Amino acid sequence: MGPMSPVRTLRLWGPRSLGVALGIFMTIGFGLQLWGGPFQRRLPGLQLRQPWAPSLGPDVQSCIPRQHLVFLKTHKSGSSSVLNLLHRYGDRHGLRFALPARYQFGYPRLFQASRVKGYNPHGGGTQPSFHILCHHMRFNLKEVLQVMPPDSFFFSIVRDPAALARSAFSYYKSTSSAFRKAPSLAAFLANPRAFYRPGARGDHYARNLLWFDFGLPFPPEMRTKGGNPNLLKDSNSLHIHVLPSGAGSRAQVPDPNALFQPVPTVADGHSQPASPATLDLESSSFIQWGLAWLDSVFDLVMVAEYFDESLVLLADALCWGLDDVVGFMHNAQAGGGQGHSAASNSELTPDDQLLTARARAWNNLDWALYLHFNRSLWARIEQFGQRKLQRAVAELRARREALAKHCLVGGEALDPKYITDRKLRPFQFGSSKVLGYVLQSGLSPQDQEECERLATPELQYKDKLDAKQFPPIVTQTLKTSRLLSP
Ligand SMILES: *[C@@H]1O[C@H](CO)[C@@H](O)[C@H](O)[C@H]1NC(C)=O
Repeated sequence: MGPMSPVRTLRLWGPRSLGVALGIFMTIGFGLQLWGGPFQRRLPGLQLRQPWAPSLGPDVQSCIPRQHLVFLKTHKSGSSSVLNLLHRYGDRHGLRFALPARYQFGYPRLFQASRVKGYNPHGGGTQPSFHILCHHMRFNLKEVLQVMPPDSFFFSIVRDPAALARSAFSYYKSTSSAFRKAPSLAAFLANPRAFYRPGARGDHYARNLLWFDFGLPFPPEMRTKGGNPNLLKDSNSLHIHVLPSGAGSRAQVPDPNALFQPVPTVADGHSQPASPATLDLESSSFIQWGLAWLDSVFDLVMVAEYFDESLVLLADALCWGLDDVVGFMHNAQAGGGQGHSAASNSELTPDDQLLTARARAWNNLDWALYLHFNRSLWARIEQFGQRKLQRAVAELRARREALAKHCLVGGEALDPKYITDRKLRPFQFGSSKVLGYVLQSGLSPQDQEECERLATPELQYKDKLDAKQFPPIVTQTLKTSRLLSP
């Protein structure tokens, strides 16, 4: 764990979240029930010791597990592992997911409520609201609030842009025209402008992908003459025009439209070519503006390099139990330099260090975004208590290891060639193999079910939830009639 950097201005928590953060970690009632819940009974020998709530004093306040969740699933940031725990939690508690018709919500276009399966804008009060929105999208607050309750917990995850670039390059090698033309990531970053054309197919994968996924607009000087086609194609694409006040929180902004105005068309944007000095100044206030807005919208932004610490904070903020956030890594690429740990710069070769520096400079908006949320995370860790957090992280890791040993052949992720079960074989994409899991044989039926949930890749799990929420009526009718006919 790295040393703490001095914590300065913190505008992490809106009043709502502060209440949760100050509230004691888990209630005796709900908390114990969840922890020692069905899972514990199902996996004898894997008993949890104690809930990690430290000495629960007499004035412990209870908290109610939060079940209205908006997770912005950013690309190549460890978000598939978060998706798995959301899928499991919602599945186990019978929650309703706001699902895309396929696997993404019209990405890379901005999210539209109409993309949600079963969404009916005129449904009035008859339509049951959704609990969880978590599949790939380009974030668009106004439309998200058409689908999700205003008291939803908004969270996401970010990753060091250098690590993200390595992952994105191998994954989107043939999807992004900029990457496709480049012989290697090093060659791309040595002279990105030789390969990168804004507006070209898949260009958003090649630069500032996090910024893009968060739905933030790009500074004028980073747009081409043609503008960002994805942004402009969208008839009601929006951009931020009011910097929210320090006290502003999403819940306190009655009309999200107040934050937006339509994007001016590029044709009438006569932006003057500015000197480099003004550009720096402009983009820095532009960046601050975007980050302040994200602070007012998102309750928590996890950091992939501190994944387990982030999971503990997530469980704390949601009033969930440990088992709810323990899971296996998903969608990891073979040779991906094991995902979530924060590799110290000194361990890198000079070439790697150069590549890291260039990736961060090229993805300057993402780098600013990452530093911001890394700072916020560590401030929150300090608030939570370093030692308490370390204990919880150790327990979470022990729990994960025990589950891996119990559930998985080899106790770890495997090359897809070993995964013959189609339910568990991860979708293969990009130039590296995507790792997955094989279950131990001879598990009890209950363990089998639980281990399968932990090991199910995101696409298959989405299909499973989809089938549960939208039962195939025709098939059922057929079955019933077959049963009834002599
Ligand atoms: C993230 O924050 C931690 C704690 O302050 C620090 O050790 C680490 O260097 C930061 N990461 C980056 C990339 O700045």
